[in-house]
Amino acid sequence: MKDKLHEILERSRADVDAAESFKDLEDIRIKYLGKKGELTSVLRGMGGLTKEERPVIGKLANDVREEIEENLEGNKSVIKEREKNARLAEETIDVTIPGEFHKPGHKHPLTLVLDDIKDIFIGMGFKIAEGPEVETVYHNFDALNAPKDHPSRDLSDTFYFTEDILLRTQTSPVQVRVMQKTQPPIKVISPGRCYRSDEIDATHSPMFHQIEGLVVDKDITFGDLKGTLNTFAKRLFGEGTKTKFRPHYFPFTEPSGEVDVSCFKCGGEGCRMCGGSGWIEILGCGMVHPNVLKECGIDPEEYSGFAFGMGLDRIAMLKLEIDDIRLFFENDMRFIEQF
Ligand code: DAH
Repeated sequence: MKDKLHEILERSRADVDAAESFKDLEDIRIKYLGKKGELTSVLRGMGGLTKEERPVIGKLANDVREEIEENLEGNKSVIKEREKNARLAEETIDVTIPGEFHKPGHKHPLTLVLDDIKDIFIGMGFKIAEGPEVETVYHNFDALNAPKDHPSRDLSDTFYFTEDILLRTQTSPVQVRVMQKTQPPIKVISPGRCYRSDEIDATHSPMFHQIEGLVVDKDITFGDLKGTLNTFAKRLFGEGTKTKFRPHYFPFTEPSGEVDVSCFKCGGEGCRMCGGSGWIEILGCGMVHPNVLKECGIDPEEYSGFAFGMGLDRIAMLKLEIDDIRLFFENDMRFIEQF
């Protein structure tokens, strides 16, 4: 039995030395010291020993158990150290590898032109107001005095989510939101994305940008509208710019007009940019319809206002001489970086 115990001790030493992980050590512990382990089964055979042998073998068995336990414990720290070194080797950072170069961003041309336009209006005392792109039919059409059979409501022109909810077709609903929240004086512009189900071509995109303007106060007249838009046109297109107000129809303004500016390329002579006419159409405008003021809780007897709306994409195309709207939305840095 002595020999057997010595043999177990020898073998366990070799096993512990060969162990590579904590799991190996645990397996070794079970193999020798577990309930069904080798040492345990030797001890079970002690019943067959003589009185004299029993304490001798008992002590030897205990010594063997202790040594196996010590060896296991001792090897744990060796393995820990080895695993740490392996991890360090794996995580080594090679500081000599060349880094990745991230190009700094560049403002999109639409943002550049929008920034100019915002600056001009902010300089005239306007504030910026924003509204949601997912709008209600009420804000986009009904509250803006659009007749039930107005063609712009058509299912084929407008992206509807439900009968009552759509992607706004214009920034004009922001007028309604502003007026329903605040009493005059009101002086805001609201830039933002709009959506119409147009076929994509060089001048049409189903997603485009408008800038809405709204002024409401006591004694606001068409003269204020003209003065504001004349100043805007001169600041954006150059001091020599002339404007022309043509009558037009919009449901939410009365009277309504469209504004042309003298061609800033040829000065009105006629060129490719203005199609030979010397004039370029840039926006729609008018005096806020009394029905719209009433719907928004503003008394049309006490207050009056004007509004305007322009297409940012078109104005940016004119200013930057870009002949295809699709270039704005392709995000090709070679295009964007030119401005
Ligand atoms: N919402 C109009 C459109 O999309 C543009 C417009 C015209 C806005 C006249 C206005 C306005 O505020 O007074 O065609």
